[in-house]
Amino acid sequence: MAKIKTTFFCQNCGSQYSKWQGQCTACKEWNTIVEEVIQKEEKSSWKMPTSAVKRASKPLRINEIDVSQEARMNTEDQEFNRVLGGGIVPGSLILLGGEPGIGKSTLLLQISLKLPYKTLYVSGEESQQQIKMRAERINPNSANCYILTETKTQNIFKQIEALEPDIVVIDSIQTLHTEYIESSSGSISQIKECTTELIKFAKETATPVILIGHITKDGNIAGPKILEHMVDTVLQFEGDRNHVFRILRAHKNRFGSTNELGIYEMQGSGLREVSNPSEILISKKDEELSGNAVASTLEGMRPLMIEVQALVSTAVYGTPQRSATGFNAKRLNMLLAVLEKRAGFRLGAKDVFLNITGGISVDDPAIDLAVVASVLSSNEDVAIPKDYCFAAEVGLSGEIRPVQRVEQRILEAEKLGFSTIFVSKYNKISLKNTGIKIQLISKIEDLVSFLV
Ligand code: TYD
Ligand code: MG
Repeated sequence: MAKIKTTFFCQNCGSQYSKWQGQCTACKEWNTIVEEVIQKEEKSSWKMPTSAVKRASKPLRINEIDVSQEARMNTEDQEFNRVLGGGIVPGSLILLGGEPGIGKSTLLLQISLKLPYKTLYVSGEESQQQIKMRAERINPNSANCYILTETKTQNIFKQIEALEPDIVVIDSIQTLHTEYIESSSGSISQIKECTTELIKFAKETATPVILIGHITKDGNIAGPKILEHMVDTVLQFEGDRNHVFRILRAHKNRFGSTNELGIYEMQGSGLREVSNPSEILISKKDEELSGNAVASTLEGMRPLMIEVQALVSTAVYGTPQRSATGFNAKRLNMLLAVLEKRAGFRLGAKDVFLNITGGISVDDPAIDLAVVASVLSSNEDVAIPKDYCFAAEVGLSGEIRPVQRVEQRILEAEKLGFSTIFVSKYNKISLKNTGIKIQLISKIEDLVSFLV
């Protein structure tokens, strides 16, 4: 009988301690350190069956390595492929994180149903009947997708050996447990050990594994956070649960860029890929209303036209309120100060509310000019012509600064039928004969003279 070993883990950041202490030295959180039993045995759950050897591990000279082996497995979902950098890499471990209820299970079930490969979807959260009911809403005819409800890794590997799937999906890592560790499922040591077993399986058989991990709003039981360095790719599924749009981002990607973004719309029949997001994010209305401005932003490599709405009104209480949804509130305060100091607008006694439509949050600095324009428009109560759009950063001295890849933004605006785009004078633009008027401005006063 092996000696029972215990150790102490911080439930917040996963740091390990040999004895209990009140505060975690690593993340400075109080009362997060909990004792867990780790009864390590030498054997691991995943043992490679000799029949399944797809890739032997021996040293190879770098120019002998055949990269065609790394051919990507294409999913039928173009947004998912794009975020991964062109499909799933065989043998990779992908972690999909997100708040509960955001649609992680829906997304992966939907992708599993459409995959042209033999897929095993392991769920520890829902029964096979529940998953079937969900699948019927999404795509009832799929011959390649197998559903297993199981939480013990040893049993999962037994089924994998029998089925030999091409892709494995685990929903979710917090429900798994391995019999070699005694603490309860969802604890740090279980999550770590189960992931280690899955990594071993994935690397040895070149079968990709996609894990779902829950992240709570306050990040308190941030189990999946500690996995981020173990897996190859970390995807985050986010969005406002009350809005229909969901955004898939890569936070870490060993096989591609982390700039790419996938956009989905939640519908009654699952998630729909939004391949042309700009058209949806801009409200098509006939009336011109004050306080609205459109920004030409870039998310990853993709241009995205986004509507900014501002409401400026006289403050009812002593301290004016400033609130921003989808935009950094500190940056809003900075832009308001610039307007006050450089353009002489008295905003100090006004409430300012700012909203990015569609429940999307933006950190591209090129949205600054649209924010300033919408605030000005609401303050002066003059509508901005609805075929104007903006793409520039605003500096502290009120200067209009250039932004990267401005030509791509201009072309997107032209494609969507805008007549004029405001950009910085300092941007180098070599576009000729565009159907859109490119208005170059250098100071915030220039913008004021155009709009007011
Ligand atoms: P789910 O995938 O269960 O979330 P997670 O796995 O991230 O916890 O999805 C939760 C929500 O998605 C649920 O509130 C209902 C909604 N939904 C739809 O709107 N349409 C659908 O077709 C499906 C399957 C779910
Ligand atoms: Mg789920």
